[in-house]
Amino acid sequence: MFSRSLAFTLLSLLSFFFPFVASGPAWTSDPFIPPAIPLAVRSPYLSAWLPQGQGTALNAGWATFWTGMIQGWAGYIKVDGKAYAFMGSAGGVTSEKAVQKSFQFTSTQSTFVLTAGPVDLTVTFLSPVEPDDLVKQSFPFSYMSMTVASNDGASHFAKVYTDISAEWITGNVSSLATWKATTDSNVVTHQIQLSTQVPYTEDHDKIQNGAAYFSATQTSGLTYQIGQDVLLRNQFTANGTLLNTQDTNFRAVQDEWPVFAFAWNLGKFSSTSATVVCSLGHVRDPAVQYIKADGSKQDRSLYFWSKYSTVAAAIADFLQDYTNALSRAKALDATISTDAKKVSQDYAELTALSLRQAFGASEITVSKNADGSFNTSDVLIFTKETSSSASVNTVDAIYSMWPLYLYMNATMGKYALLPGLEYSASGLYKQQFAVHDLGSHYPQATGLANGGLTMPIEETGNMLIMVLSYIQRTGDTSLATQYHSLLDQWAQYLQSNALNPTSQMSSDAFAGALDKQTNLAIKGAIGIAAMSEIANLTGDATKAAQYASTAVSFASKIVSSGTSTDGQHLTLSVSFDRLVAARHRKLMSLIFLHWGLAYNLYADQLLGTNLFPDTVYNMQTSWYGNKLANTQYGLPLDTRHTYSLTHWEIWAAAIAGSSTVRDSFIGGVLKLATNGKSNKPFGDWYDTVAGTENSFTARPVVGGHFALLALQGAPLNTTGIVAPTSTQITLTQPTATPGAGGGGAPPSPQAAASDASRASVLHSFGLGVVFILSLSLLP
Ligand SMILES: *[C@@H]1O[C@H](CO)[C@@H](O)[C@H](O)[C@H]1NC(C)=O
Ligand SMILES: *[C@@H]1O[C@H](CO)[C@@H](O)[C@H](O)[C@H]1NC(C)=O
Ligand SMILES: *[C@@H]1O[C@H](CO)[C@@H](O)[C@H](O)[C@H]1NC(C)=O
Ligand SMILES: *[C@@H]1O[C@H](CO)[C@@H](O)[C@H](O)[C@H]1NC(C)=O
Ligand SMILES: *[C@@H]1O[C@H](CO)[C@@H](O)[C@H](O)[C@H]1NC(C)=O
Ligand SMILES: *[C@@H]1O[C@H](CO)[C@@H](O)[C@H](O)[C@H]1NC(C)=O
Repeated sequence: MFSRSLAFTLLSLLSFFFPFVASGPAWTSDPFIPPAIPLAVRSPYLSAWLPQGQGTALNAGWATFWTGMIQGWAGYIKVDGKAYAFMGSAGGVTSEKAVQKSFQFTSTQSTFVLTAGPVDLTVTFLSPVEPDDLVKQSFPFSYMSMTVASNDGASHFAKVYTDISAEWITGNVSSLATWKATTDSNVVTHQIQLSTQVPYTEDHDKIQNGAAYFSATQTSGLTYQIGQDVLLRNQFTANGTLLNTQDTNFRAVQDEWPVFAFAWNLGKFSSTSATVVCSLGHVRDPAVQYIKADGSKQDRSLYFWSKYSTVAAAIADFLQDYTNALSRAKALDATISTDAKKVSQDYAELTALSLRQAFGASEITVSKNADGSFNTSDVLIFTKETSSSASVNTVDAIYSMWPLYLYMNATMGKYALLPGLEYSASGLYKQQFAVHDLGSHYPQATGLANGGLTMPIEETGNMLIMVLSYIQRTGDTSLATQYHSLLDQWAQYLQSNALNPTSQMSSDAFAGALDKQTNLAIKGAIGIAAMSEIANLTGDATKAAQYASTAVSFASKIVSSGTSTDGQHLTLSVSFDRLVAARHRKLMSLIFLHWGLAYNLYADQLLGTNLFPDTVYNMQTSWYGNKLANTQYGLPLDTRHTYSLTHWEIWAAAIAGSSTVRDSFIGGVLKLATNGKSNKPFGDWYDTVAGTENSFTARPVVGGHFALLALQGAPLNTTGIVAPTSTQITLTQPTATPGAGGGGAPPSPQAAASDASRASVLHSFGLGVVFILSLSLLP
């Protein structure tokens, strides 16, 4: 009694002084409430989320597509004859609301527990991630499972129900749908499709061909029905069973809302009921249209078709595999959590939120041979650049999520690189630099020739860096051999253009074009270094040495010219016209004061190229540390705006030489994920002052949050850059005055082998230096 009234007093006081304390949800969350909870997230067209904001219970809102469009998904439970709603927020149904008790998520699962009178219902949404199995990873299906447990020690009777609407198949609810329910001895499936099928064409980001499949394993307690939403839901809440009938009055999605339902009789149980499972997916065939070297367009299928001849057979295996799939998912969750906790608890939480979203915009495809059989040697992964455009295989989007591929399975990364390599090598794309994307409308990977957006240094550097890191992780040099002349062409492009970049866009296209971006020049130098290593691996000693020499020379020039005059930080723009600047100091100070996140240095660590000296990392760490001390949400991308991208914050964290700085970056991104200001699938583009997300949502680039895991224990068998002898920089003696703040310990997660060349060039470079660049280095 005493403790209760004391608690009450404390609560009253708390809510008096902090009224917001009472506004959070009554349920618990572990580890936190994300902007939107992944429910079924496996492909660009199987992407269902529960919007959260400050916290929305499973039965207080509707599941939505990543665009925000509702995808009806309802759930009811009857306990000892009394009906409760546990999912969705439909009107007109005779029931009470179950009370959500808790929510928990892991990398692959979202789990809700709701109290319905004397029982607790556990609903788990599992979207598997199967990095080592192309068939399983290409399944566009997700699981929902339900288990009921007595919460009062007594035995109870329970029945559960769930339905989906036809909103799952279209972006326009006026569209006409057709459907059927199919039963066999193993599985009951509802199949729903548009009456007019249009391959390769989206409507409000939904694909216009294929069908949604809602399926359950056949059991004695299972019933199903197709019919109007309120009729079926009331049928269940009144009678507890469905009629195994189908409404065949095909109509528009919103016309007396047809729904597709299952009900299970769980019978009587004293502690815990059996678990019932259903699967939900969206399948189409063909899936992706792809331009071949001869200009013809190829129809490609999701990879699982190479093993199954019908969707029904694939679904039967998927459902039957549930127990094993759950074990694999738990093992994967545990591995990621253990690895990420080596960094921090915050980092483990951030990676757990990112996994399903990162893989949820990609599809693994296979082509057919002339005889109609599948060519399983021809595997290509296609990724949709969700929300920021609808482009196919945007190179910098793949690059952003690249750490995830390296961490999970680098071979999958190769399948994501191949379309860009094949298209570029075909000659259909005429530019010397790498292509930005393969088509502006997913799933049409039909090429751009010379049109479309260009990010010359960005994408060219990205491709070289990704190819080398793939080789380093797998030992497979086939890409280096097969695409040698293309890679060499790209390296030559960088050699001619990367040191002093012309005005162009980087990955951060929304910031517009900018002249002489230091961060781009850094990427260019690392790209050239990557080509040196690739040449080394393919036995071309001459090229290896020549590119190494260029890369080292570029790096030293970039450091000299791209460092602020006070030696405190890298600048936003390299100032090769420094001598001119000296005479126009007032004007040029505008440039010198600008700085940005030099996230492209990450690749230098990832590849072990070690082009840039520890002094640069230490300088940046100190600079970031000072700036981070005054922020809650990390640092802006650069001084032009207050916005940033979450994955670049994490890349900067990954190479920070201080755990304080690293943790501040991670903490800033996690704060964005947890602050309750968004209700869309996590958006990577955000305002670092307000802690609000900009327009991007559900982008695969959150795979970049795995940047620290890609560095952890990376089996980097790099050969190292061959030391050049010709290039030397003369520096005045540094008056090392390290900045305050987080700096300190050397970075190098790889603690790379000592690199005489770089040391000889730059070891004397220090903080707080004003130095003179020898004139011979000016272009
Ligand atoms: C990576 O995935 C491929 C399939 O693409 C698989 O053959 C391979 O075994 C996987 N690698 C590892 C280390 O599991
Ligand atoms: C939705 O579909 C209907 C029927 O086909 C059509 O008349 C209408 O223009 C569409 N609306 C939008 C916004 O595309
Ligand atoms: C429930 O079943 C009874 C017969 O068992 C029937 O009379 C009644 O109409 C049913 N109610 C609903 C809502 O289907
Ligand atoms: C299968 O695909 C591989 C890789 O694209 C290709 O080299 C091979 O020629 C293809 N096989 C046939 C029979 O077309
Ligand atoms: C890199 O190391 C791995 C593991 O030690 C090995 O399997 C692979 O062949 C090596 N790759 C190269 C390019 O030497
Ligand atoms: C590759 O690099 C290693 C280490 O620097 C060197 O010993 C070897 O000669 C190089 N091979 C070629 C072909 O450049």
